[in-house]
Amino acid sequence: MADSIFVLNGPNLNRLGKREPDIYGTETLGDIERRCMEWGDANGLSITFRQSNQEGILIDWIHEAADSAIGIVINPAAYTHTSVALHDAIKSIEIPVVEVHLSNVHARDSFRRRSYISPVALGAIFGFGSFGYVMALDAINHRTGPAARA
Ligand code: DQA
Repeated sequence: MADSIFVLNGPNLNRLGKREPDIYGTETLGDIERRCMEWGDANGLSITFRQSNQEGILIDWIHEAADSAIGIVINPAAYTHTSVALHDAIKSIEIPVVEVHLSNVHARDSFRRRSYISPVALGAIFGFGSFGYVMALDAINHRTGPAARA
């Protein structure tokens, strides 16, 4: 079975397409999932794509990925700016985690400039819309590398 990357999405991202389209665009989460799946097919990796509005469920999925995936792409949405629990969950695992935001969080409300995730992530990508997910998948692939996975 192909190595897997988890792509995890936090609260309110199920509303993409309808939610503040001036900020987040008109693509739905289903469109983003398709984009990630296409990337997986092209790169020979399996993508596990999930969304939850519950902090604890995201934490359980981070733990699950630690034992079954080569990396995590996560858009923690509003939990980015509040969640010590997500910070601790990421700190507790070994696989690389890349933080993604559709919007440029530094060009918006001041409370969005603080991330509890960035200090424990491999890196962060923000402001490029759904293309950021593809960039993040490339970053995980580059970091883990086919040679490293052989
Ligand atoms: C977001 C940015 C967050 O500040 C916000 O709470 C979201 C979406 C983004 O993808 O731009 O829900 O993570």
